[in-house]
Amino acid sequence: MPYVPKNAPSNERDPDKADMTAFEDKKVFVKTYGCQMNVYDSNRMMDSLATKGYSPTEAMEDADLVILNTCHIREKAAEKVYSELGRIRQVKEKRAKDGKGEMKIGIAGCVAQAEGQEIIRRAPVVDLVVGPQAYHKLPDLLDKANHGTRVVETDFPLEDKFAVLPDARKEVTRKRGVSSFLTVQEGCDKFCSFCVVPYTRGAEVSRPASQIIHEAEKLAAAGVREVTLLGQNVNAYHGESPDGGDWGLGELLFRLAEIDGLDRLRYTTSHPRDMDDTLMAAHRDLDILMPYLHLPVQAGSDKVLKAMNRQHTYDDYVRLIDRIRSARPDIALSGDFIVGFPGETDEDFEETMRIVREVTYASAYSFKYSPRPGTPAADSEDQIEEAIKSERLYRLQDLLAQQQKDFNASKVGTEMTVLLERKGREPGQLVGKSPWLQAVQVDAAEELIGEIVTVKVDNLGSNSLFGTMIDRP
Ligand code: SAH
Ligand code: SF4
Ligand code: F3S
Repeated sequence: MPYVPKNAPSNERDPDKADMTAFEDKKVFVKTYGCQMNVYDSNRMMDSLATKGYSPTEAMEDADLVILNTCHIREKAAEKVYSELGRIRQVKEKRAKDGKGEMKIGIAGCVAQAEGQEIIRRAPVVDLVVGPQAYHKLPDLLDKANHGTRVVETDFPLEDKFAVLPDARKEVTRKRGVSSFLTVQEGCDKFCSFCVVPYTRGAEVSRPASQIIHEAEKLAAAGVREVTLLGQNVNAYHGESPDGGDWGLGELLFRLAEIDGLDRLRYTTSHPRDMDDTLMAAHRDLDILMPYLHLPVQAGSDKVLKAMNRQHTYDDYVRLIDRIRSARPDIALSGDFIVGFPGETDEDFEETMRIVREVTYASAYSFKYSPRPGTPAADSEDQIEEAIKSERLYRLQDLLAQQQKDFNASKVGTEMTVLLERKGREPGQLVGKSPWLQAVQVDAAEELIGEIVTVKVDNLGSNSLFGTMIDRP
């Protein structure tokens, strides 16, 4: 008996239905790289493929369609695609030999957008290349690929890229767990001199607030307790308000806070230049806006910040952090850092160390500068030697790790709310998130997944906290 997706029409109920081919039982395997936006987009692609009868599988060898949702941010990220394709080709060949049918291979995401046709040339095994602006066309593009055409779709459409989304999603409600992403803004106009995102994701576009509210209400109705608003520059959000005006992210958060059933809001990633007063007020006044902010500074030296085109100084950033902390004193800060940007001297790098010591972060991501084709910094003559980059990264990560440990240790002995998300490593254990985005392990029954419980933190693990549940709903 073949597996029939639950919401697919069945032969028994409608034997005369002519269009059954659209609901053939097929499997799609999606592997996601890069940022949370890609995670969200992968779900969106799976939703739209469900309308073609594809259901997700976690086993690549069972898949009729494999999609790699790729990232182009650093060289290593982009290289992963080609090495993964080698492995996929073997699975595809084995599947064909075992008589399991043909496997189609698609490349989505930012490598697809950046390299387009080049992927088809370099990797003959690829059937379909689709950029982030064209996901709404995926079912049609797949039809073409299934009929033997190799398809490349990386045009930036003229129409609003979000306008077509709700149709593609229709009423498909795949289960999303207790915490969900929701894209409110896509693209970036900031053009930091090291970054590919403005080229792969296009110009900033914000979704109308009414669309976002509707999607958040649907998520809440499906049992989602925590929503993280996503955007490449999420706090640059400027969308149409329900009454035709203009809302920033702050206004949007105040409205989303009214939705029944939503208990936690977060947003990421933000840019220091777009923290406005309403957003500060949201941090001050909204309990459900979690006290955690990812606000990348990238570097400390004013010279480097200028060359990066970040459009703010060391002092601007530190003053901003002071204002945020006076609005929400318990806020945990997170950041991104780049070491070895072209022309970065030892003194410049010390400024990065200084700003980290001055601000203190609860968590952070740090990277060696990676020259990206087509970005201005890649053409600079002052590229920094690999060994120097490595040494700086080592020192910076050491400091950031210490700060993270100190922050986690400061929570031992305290009580906090934890949203229980999934089973833990040991039987009888669940893992959840603290308001500050720390992983917390607790002994608790599985039925409590999706609940917010009060936990007393007993111990510090290497990557998480251990606690005892002291109150439950
Ligand atoms: N929109 C976000 C960043 C998105 S990219 C922001 O402006 O903060 C995520 C992170 O990758 C960046 O913050 C940066 O630290 C890092 N990154 C981007 N381009 C890079 C490059 N060419 N080399 C090394 N790190 C890079
Ligand atoms: Fe890239 Fe800068 Fe835009 Fe962030 S703000 S996505 S780092 S160009
Ligand atoms: Fe990577 Fe594209 Fe996200 S380059 S970080 S997947 S926007």
